[in-house]
Amino acid sequence: MPKKVLIQLDCDPQPSTFDAIVAVDAGVDVLLRHGGVSVDSVVPLVHGGMFTRGGADLAATAIFIGGSDVAAAEAVAAKVRSAFFGPVRLGVLVDPSGANTTASAAVIAAGRHVQLSRGSAAPCRAVVLGGTGPVGERVVGLLAGKGCHVTVVSRSRERAELVVGRIVAAGAMPSRIEAVEHHGAACLPGSAFATALEQAEVIVAAGAAGAMLLDEAGRKAAAMARVLVDLNAVPPAGIAGIAGPDRARVDGTAVVYGALGVGGTKMKIHKAAVARIFAGNDAFLDAPELLAIGESLEAGG
Ligand SMILES: NC(=O)c1ccc[n+]([C@@H]2O[C@H](COP(=O)([O-])OP(=O)(O)OC[C@H]3O[C@@H](n4cnc5c(N)ncnc54)[C@H](OP(=O)(O)O)[C@@H]3O)[C@@H](O)[C@H]2O)c1
Repeated sequence: MPKKVLIQLDCDPQPSTFDAIVAVDAGVDVLLRHGGVSVDSVVPLVHGGMFTRGGADLAATAIFIGGSDVAAAEAVAAKVRSAFFGPVRLGVLVDPSGANTTASAAVIAAGRHVQLSRGSAAPCRAVVLGGTGPVGERVVGLLAGKGCHVTVVSRSRERAELVVGRIVAAGAMPSRIEAVEHHGAACLPGSAFATALEQAEVIVAAGAAGAMLLDEAGRKAAAMARVLVDLNAVPPAGIAGIAGPDRARVDGTAVVYGALGVGGTKMKIHKAAVARIFAGNDAFLDAPELLAIGESLEAGG
């Protein structure tokens, strides 16, 4: 078997050192790191990987697509996919800004305590705070994919509705997803935000680092919540009372996870995904596939 070569395609000027180290720890032999990658420059980089090895050896070359500009990375990912033809293709992992692995880990944490997939009569109700960011939108999409009723919370109704529109266009039932505008961390009784909180079994905070999105009073309003996940690692917490290392800590009638508590699962998914793209040349791993990998790891697979 030839050496495992990972072509790291990053849209930032300098490719991520984090993604490089995870690749090495996941068993990559040779890392080809490219920064400043765009849709205009990516195809020759992909062809270089496609045309050097043949047959089964093609599986020993794979691609990682990353960078902090998630939209740019998604566009590069689409271009990479279109560069393949027939069996002449490479395994691909798409995880810009860690958004796909983080969102998958958050959904797995929630699924440990609440049945996310149910019959149509009583879907699990989830609220995603900061649901317009790269991580939040992916959490929304993954929960919607499980059949949950999801409330997308943003300071802008327009931005939340754009997310709702994209998730519905991807196949979610329009009646199972709603946009709610909310400002600050307090919960005004009688507001649409308060109603969503009161009904939620799952709450995920995916707001920007250091932004508190739910205060103590808001948490009290969320009386039905069984699991709360806060992905913000920078003080103050995104959800009052949750600390970064919390991992399934029982807090009243709910269990809570902080960013570090979710981070272990995220890292396991990332490393398993790197292994998967070298297991054959057919994988194209985006958020849903990464969630499936995480679920398989949870099940001991
Ligand atoms: N554990 C991990 O390994 C890991 C990995 C990646 C990311 N993260 C964390 O996950 C969280 C989400 O990441 P992201 O990249 O998706 O975040 P982001 O794009 O920076 O922010 C997400 C959303 O937060 C809202 N927001 C921004 N500033 C705000 C403010 N001052 N007050 C209230 N809301 C504000 C915005 O929504 P609106 O403007 O629409 O309201 C934005 O779309 C971050 O805390 C990040 O640090 C953790």
